[in-house]
Amino acid sequence: MHDVHEMPMADVSRKRWRALRTVAAGAAVAVAMSWAIVYFGVYNLAADIPHTRPVYWLMETARDRSVAMRARSVRVPANLEDAQRIAMGAGLYDDMCSSCHLAPGMEKTEISQGLYPPAPEFNEPSDLTPGEAFWIVKHGLKMTGMPAWGVTHSDTLIWDMVAFLQKLPALSPEQYKALVKSAPKDHDAMMKAQAPGGS
Ligand code: HEC
Repeated sequence: MHDVHEMPMADVSRKRWRALRTVAAGAAVAVAMSWAIVYFGVYNLAADIPHTRPVYWLMETARDRSVAMRARSVRVPANLEDAQRIAMGAGLYDDMCSSCHLAPGMEKTEISQGLYPPAPEFNEPSDLTPGEAFWIVKHGLKMTGMPAWGVTHSDTLIWDMVAFLQKLPALSPEQYKALVKSAPKDHDAMMKAQAPGGS
């Protein structure tokens, strides 16, 4: 019989040492292989070829978790239902977002067809909370084409757009046009009225 308890101390530590070395060698091989995949350009980053399923899953999960964790500290204003706010958001959206995200009654654009990942069309209710939508619009998303609008726009204007996004999926083309027309000011005037700021 030769179980661990009867083994001399030297034997036990030699076994542990060997196990440790195997783990370290395995890790080194994994790092070398990952670097080789990067160095030899094995993964295709072309936007006209979709991600493989595992990469898609990884990117999507990383994005969703990253946004969810950071949006937890975002305080949602109480007046997202305010009609003025929604109208303002409609004007901004039509100016700055529809080229990629499209809008009710709008044809696909050259940009929208070439984006990968594609920009969602907001034609069905979003599973993002308003706080998450705010965080994405303000900070943008790396490697997707979604810009960080907080670099040039105040939190107030971004909340106007988030307020509008809550209404967008239910709008007909006519309602959309009417809402954009009712925007209180044109884009330049809205920009001048609001200096960017906040965190
Ligand atoms: C240059 C193209 C482009 C423009 C312009 C753009 N977006 Fe995006 N947006 C994207 C892309 C691409 C994604 C998808 C990213 C992804 O799948 O991870 C995205 C994602 C989003 C999301 C997250 C949607 C979801 O359900 O996950 C929101 C919200 C959003 N954009 C709002 C806006 C708003 C508001 C504007 C205008 C101020 C805007 N975007 C302008 C390309 C754009």
